[in-house]
Amino acid sequence: MRADQDLLEFTLAAARAAGCVLLEHFEGELTVTTKSSDIDLVTSADRAAEAAVLGRITRDFPEDWILAEESGRIGGDSPDPRPPPGVLQWVLDPLDGTTNFTHRFPHFSVSIALVDHEGPRLGVVHDPTRGETFYAIRGGGAFVDSPRTRARHGQPQPLGVTATRALRLALVATGFAYTRATSPTNNLLEFNRVVPQVRCIRRAGSAALDLAYVAAGRLDAYWEYHLQPWDVAAGALLVREAGGVLTRIDGGPWDLRHGDLVAAGPALAPVLQAELAGARMAQGTCSGGHLHR
Ligand code: IPD
Ligand code: CA
Ligand code: CA
Repeated sequence: MRADQDLLEFTLAAARAAGCVLLEHFEGELTVTTKSSDIDLVTSADRAAEAAVLGRITRDFPEDWILAEESGRIGGDSPDPRPPPGVLQWVLDPLDGTTNFTHRFPHFSVSIALVDHEGPRLGVVHDPTRGETFYAIRGGGAFVDSPRTRARHGQPQPLGVTATRALRLALVATGFAYTRATSPTNNLLEFNRVVPQVRCIRRAGSAALDLAYVAAGRLDAYWEYHLQPWDVAAGALLVREAGGVLTRIDGGPWDLRHGDLVAAGPALAPVLQAELAGARMAQGTCSGGHLHR
């Protein structure tokens, strides 16, 4: 049985190494190609950062399964991102915020989770631009570590979601999938319904950081459709360990198989979820189950 603390140290080091790779590429030449459509980009930085993490995992934990955005599955073949009992799976997004990165918009992250049959067991979201590292161990709370927390407090600081109850007082975030030009669940009904009701809304471009910011109380809530496991595995654990609530947009229980997610503090979660579900009901387009993209 591997100790959670050792796994955390390994994951923090891997995320920071990938973050260094991203920063090296951020100022330099980038090779940019497209994936599922002309707005779904992948760069030489995504691939180099992923290689840095994969090299460490395969060196230290060759028996583990891996689900990595750019390399796909290494090891298992189950469509469920949660492996069977006795197996551990690393779920990795080496660069969450590729569109930002390509435009040299400095808001992106590295997201690494270790997942067992119950779901995320450990999660790290690292923001190399600000030097902030958010991490959580299941049952052990969520924390942020940065030069600022070290200087002010001498140690990482615990995260906690907000107690905000009213949308009018809430700063919320969302995102729009690469399929938004063709998908009926392009999030525009929901966006239109929520924008007039909240203090303000952000579309910052990194789902992993959106979730980390909900955990940190910098955002009151976040939702999105068509997410992938690597976008959310680490961030969802951060939110849960910071006292937050995760549901599907129809209010059902969320797990890593589901691409639609609402994350918020416990007081706001049911309020926002009802508005999002209501937006689709009002149009007679009840969302049902949308798995990933
Ligand atoms: C994307 C970002 C974005 C979210 C998209 C994701 P990528 O990930 O997290 O904020 O809205 O749904 O696909 O492509 O930059 O790794
Ligand atoms: Ca992503
Ligand atoms: Ca990515």
